[in-house]
Order: sequence, then structure tokens, then C-alpha cells
Amino acid sequence: MNLLLMGLPGAGKGTQAERITQKYDIPHISTGDMFRSAIKEGTRLGKKAKEYMDSGNLVPDEVTIAIVHERLRKDDCKKGFLLDGFPRTVAQAEALEQILVETGRTINFVLNIEVSLEELIARLTGRRICRNCTSTYHVIFNPTNVEGVCNKCGGELYQRDDDNEETVRTRLEVNVNQQQPLLGFYKEKGYLRNIEGSRPIDLVFNEIEDILPIHR
Ligand code: AP5
Ligand code: MG
Ligand code: ZN
Repeated sequence: MNLLLMGLPGAGKGTQAERITQKYDIPHISTGDMFRSAIKEGTRLGKKAKEYMDSGNLVPDEVTIAIVHERLRKDDCKKGFLLDGFPRTVAQAEALEQILVETGRTINFVLNIEVSLEELIARLTGRRICRNCTSTYHVIFNPTNVEGVCNKCGGELYQRDDDNEETVRTRLEVNVNQQQPLLGFYKEKGYLRNIEGSRPIDLVFNEIEDILPIHR
């Protein structure tokens, strides 16, 4: 199954992706995560991406399309994939179409998680991530058993550099502007499914499960 997960920053893409990829046994491909690991490793890609990410802006299309193209060529994507946070512009969506046509694949569903702007700000500024296994938590909505310590691996939690209020506002503005034409693009193709994302994490996942087929 080939899936796209869309939604504004903080909508719960990463949170739901963890559950979907576990259930359907497909790789989770997050361009944001790929850029963050490049930054951590200090690669040229990381240096390029960092300035855009720190200011809350989008990394240029050609850079982003190239890393997705390379990733989708890997063997593990033959059984399907879940793209999280890509495409984010119509140019990226068109490039993805091209990549899929080349390899004889199509998208099955575009899952768009909808949440109000006010709630997104609260979610992003309270998010905490495990340094070790990247599990995501929230100080109020999804707290760990012990403050600052990951439930799954005991790792230390940290706050993303772009989760401060000022950068969060820029990210939301940038993504709101890109979102409408992108949703129109996929609605026209018949792939788009809107998910009510302001409910608790498990209920959002139930709605996604109802859309996706039972079998892998
Ligand atoms: P990226 O890492 O993708 O960030 P984003 O789009 O801003 O989305 P987030 O990861 O912040 O949110 P999410 O939807 O995954 O929410 P989460 O599940 O963590 O991209 C970062 C940057 O990289 C971009 O700004 C850009 O610069 C660059 N980039 C990436 N892709 C690009 C592209 N295609 N083109 C160009 N540039 C690109 O949840 C958020 C919080 O809410 C958590 O604390 C969670 O616990 C909590 N939560 C989740 N669900 C619920 C719920 N149902 N109820 C209550 N709380 C919840
Ligand atoms: Mg994410
Ligand atoms: Zn952990």
C-alpha cells in the first residue's frame, strides 16, 4: 500500500505514522526526519536544510524531491510506503507522480489530518521527543511516566529547535499557504480522505483504520 500523510505542522503525522507503519509493515518516510538526521550527521544536505528549517520555511523543492526520489528506489519500498510531510508543494506532488509512473506504482490514499490552528500551536510548543528512539510525546496530551524520560527506551527527551512559538507561527503560515492547491490536486485525483484530527490519538487512528483495507 502506498500512502501519503498530510496535515499542518503538529497535526499528528508522525504520531499516526508510527501506528500505521507498524500495522501495515511499510517504511515510514518523513522528509523532516531525513533532514534532521542529515543535520545531526553534519552532511552537506544537513547544512543546506538547517537554515530553512530553523526559520520555519520549506527546504527548496529540488533538494527535497531528490532525497525522496533516492529513498523510494530502495528495496524496502517495494512492499509499499508511507510518506509523511511530502509532498508539500504542487511541484513536489507533480514530481512524485512522475517517480511513481516511472516505477509503475500509484498512490492508494492521501490521508489529510485536520486540526485547528489554535490546537496546533499548543501541540507543537508542548512536544517532546526521545533523543534515542525518536518516540514523540507531549507534556500535557501524551506525557511520559517519568518526566523527561522515554517510556519505551529510557532515553532523554528534548524539544525540537523549530518548536519555539515564533518558528511555529512561521511554519503554520508557510504550510497553510501551500496546503490548499495541494489538497485540490489530490481531491481531483480521488485519493483524498480528510481525517478529524482533533480527537484523542487512538480515535484518530481508528478513523484511519476504517479507511485503509484490513489486510496488508
Ligand atoms: P516536519 O518534521 O515534517 O515537521 P512539520 O510538518 O512541521 O510537522 P511536525 O513533525 O511538526 O508535526 P506532526 O504532524 O508530525 O505531529 P506529531 O505527530 O509530532 O518538517 C520540519 C521541517 O523540515 C519543515 O518545516 C521544513 O523546513 C522541512 N521539510 C520537511 N518536509 C519538507 C518538504 N516536503 N518540503 C520542504 N521542506 C520540508 O504531533 C505533534 C504533537 O502533538 C506531539 O507532541 C504529539 O504527542 C501531540 N499529538 C499528536 N496527536 C495528538 C492528538 N490526537 N491529540 C493530542 N495531542 C496529539
Ligand atoms: Mg512529524
Ligand atoms: Zn526512546
